[in-house]
Amino acid sequence: MILLLGGTAEARSLAERLEAAGANFTSSLAGRVAQPRLPVGETRIGGFGGVEGLRAHIRENKVTAVIDATHPFAEGMSANALAACRADGVPLLRLERPGWGDAPDAAGWHWVDDHAGAAATVARLGQRPFLTVGRQPIGEFTGPLADRACLVRVVDPPDQQFPEAWSLLLSRGPYALDSELALMREHGADVLVTKDSGGTWTWPKMAAAAELGVSVVVVRRPRAPRHLEITGDVDAAADWAVRGWAAGR
Ligand SMILES: NC(=O)c1ccc[n+]([C@@H]2O[C@H](COP(=O)([O-])OP(=O)(O)OC[C@H]3O[C@@H](n4cnc5c(N)ncnc54)[C@H](OP(=O)(O)O)[C@@H]3O)[C@@H](O)[C@H]2O)c1
Repeated sequence: MILLLGGTAEARSLAERLEAAGANFTSSLAGRVAQPRLPVGETRIGGFGGVEGLRAHIRENKVTAVIDATHPFAEGMSANALAACRADGVPLLRLERPGWGDAPDAAGWHWVDDHAGAAATVARLGQRPFLTVGRQPIGEFTGPLADRACLVRVVDPPDQQFPEAWSLLLSRGPYALDSELALMREHGADVLVTKDSGGTWTWPKMAAAAELGVSVVVVRRPRAPRHLEITGDVDAAADWAVRGWAAGR
């Protein structure tokens, strides 16, 4: 049984490949989003209960290999997967989409190490920020940007109250360039804030910012744990899993 840690478009693509190959696998989602896009095949939802919970899950479900295809910013899950797999000698592959650092415009963006750094940078740069960092880190921005007309785009309603000057947009990607241009124009956005999520699903906001001359603040990815086998390619991950699974790992 292959355990596929997901919550990303790549994980859903990989699930399709594994299903097509007839592999025995289960996708796992954290359960953060109210109505998640479910991958094909068997799915479980909810945390495992830390490293020990994950080790127990691996044992009880006779998991022979783990693919960590979680989001580049899902640090906790990736660290737990590494620790659990190391402890029990279970093969682990990290599937991680490449970041945007090599994009032609990347040198002109404001790169910061974390969301607090992003908030401080945005406070210097703009009056009408467009925040696209997801729901979890929003609390880092509410204080420093309380007096700015922030447009916040998230999938599910946030738990906390927003400053009065802020507006909320509930929506889920992928997005198209035309609609991103229209949204940023309508808001009069002067600075875009994003994680270095990478991939194509949310790239159009970056293209729109470039076209409109909007400043871009990018939160760097957390440092990946070491000694990981990593690929950015869904087909390579499918090969790894199917070969390992067929060999009875
Ligand atoms: N962070 C982002 O920007 C982002 C963006 C898009 C999608 N996602 C997806 O959303 C999920 C949660 O992200 P996060 O940043 O909150 O993760 P995180 O901080 O790394 O994880 C916190 C805890 O959530 C549980 N968890 C996370 N991913 C899980 C999974 N795939 N299956 C089962 N449990 C999981 C684990 O709980 P236990 O310790 O109890 O096992 C983990 O320790 C991930 O699956 C990720 O791929 C995250």
